[in-house]
Amino acid sequence: MWAESAAALFHQLSSFGWFEEPAPSATSAQPLPVVPPPPGEGHLVSLAHVLAARCSRRDFDGSPLSPEALTVLLWSGYGRTGTHRAVVPSCGGLLSLRLLVLALRVPGLTAGSAYPFLPDTLSLGPPTPAGPPQELFHTRHIDYERVAAVVFVVGDPRPPTDRYGDRGYRYTLLEAGHAAQNLCLAATAMRLGAVTVGGFDDEAVSVAFGLDREVPYYAVAVGGAGHEMPHEEVAAVLTLASGSA
Ligand SMILES: Cc1cc2nc3c(=O)[nH]c(=O)nc-3n(C[C@H](O)[C@H](O)[C@H](O)COP(=O)(O)O)c2cc1C
Repeated sequence: MWAESAAALFHQLSSFGWFEEPAPSATSAQPLPVVPPPPGEGHLVSLAHVLAARCSRRDFDGSPLSPEALTVLLWSGYGRTGTHRAVVPSCGGLLSLRLLVLALRVPGLTAGSAYPFLPDTLSLGPPTPAGPPQELFHTRHIDYERVAAVVFVVGDPRPPTDRYGDRGYRYTLLEAGHAAQNLCLAATAMRLGAVTVGGFDDEAVSVAFGLDREVPYYAVAVGGAGHEMPHEEVAAVLTLASGSA
């Protein structure tokens, strides 16, 4: 029953009136950045095609994901577009999330290791061996042997909950959803397959990735789906991302 559930209690306790409202964040007082509209035309139609083509794909073909394509994916998910600005909205401008990549089929990366995405330098940090992917997931109908990478959205819940009380946790989940949707849309535009995965073992992931203050919120498994990757577009986005990081 919803009314007696812990979720309902949490929803109530994280509603306005149950926590002290913070002052407006520093970012909301800043002047709006000068962001030119995207050059050229046809973006709306392109976006609509990508939106219409998005679906959860679990039929990965086992092909590798190039490091360049992985960088484009990661920038699309939680990349920077300026000071205190990212490709997704962030609660209070705190940017409290991180992307961790479980590499499985990425040439140059150690399969079974987790690499942090460093958005300021568009690079990956040092890896942590994470063990067999099957042990991290309750969702067993995905063939992790054929997945190229699983991108985990993780974060420290303290900054958002220090600021917004329990409501900060709601905001963080929403922000994680923004990042995951961007990953899905970028994967679709790159003609890759992607499926979001909520069915992972929180504790196993935290231990395997050596998370201390952070918790895992969401994951997106990505891999080949039998289509040719648009290499020139990947290179063009990498140039754009490098300029805005
Ligand atoms: C929050 C959330 C968690 C999900 N977790 C899983 C999961 O653990 N395993 C899985 O195979 N699919 C998962 N999915 C994908 C859904 O099963 C999928 O989106 C749904 O069946 C609709 O299909 P579509 O994405 O192709 O439109 C999740 C989706 C959401 C929104």
